[in-house]
Amino acid sequence: MRGASLALVLTLSLAGVALAAGADLKTEMKTVVDAATTTIFAVGGDVDPANGPDAAKVPASRWAEAVAAAQKLKGPAANLNSAENKAKGPVWAASAADFARLAGDAEKAAMKKDGAAFSKAANDLGDTCTACHAKFKAQS
Ligand code: HEC
Repeated sequence: MRGASLALVLTLSLAGVALAAGADLKTEMKTVVDAATTTIFAVGGDVDPANGPDAAKVPASRWAEAVAAAQKLKGPAANLNSAENKAKGPVWAASAADFARLAGDAEKAAMKKDGAAFSKAANDLGDTCTACHAKFKAQS
């Protein structure tokens, strides 16, 4: 009797945790990832050597914004790479690992003001959104 009600309580609280985690991810994507990557993609375009020789001459303040934006991705990266989320399968695990690695690459490149490395990290980071969303996000 006691065992049965304990099991029920555990089941209910686990369901609550799963729901909260799902809602958190969506909020985090909308409030943190979207804003940070807007900066990263914009700076990535500005400093891409393919966009001309002056592209690397963005002001130091803009590079500082890029560093800060890349650092803001650390929380979401940890969330995407939690054991619970990685259990969603190989596509999730691979794109989540790429997301974390490329956010780190972007941070390091921005600290060095390395336009080529930063624009590559930004482009590849953008590919991780598509890879994961194609399978795991409802398409609108
Ligand atoms: C490993 C998986 C994964 C990666 C990588 C990922 N996302 Fe997401 N993202 C999701 C999931 C899952 C949702 C939907 C969450 C929900 O609806 O509960 C989502 C939702 C979003 C939303 C909210 C969209 C809406 O419907 O309101 C935005 C914005 C977003 N992601 C941006 C990004 C950007 C930008 C990147 C890449 C820099 C990225 N995401 C990378 C899994 C991922």
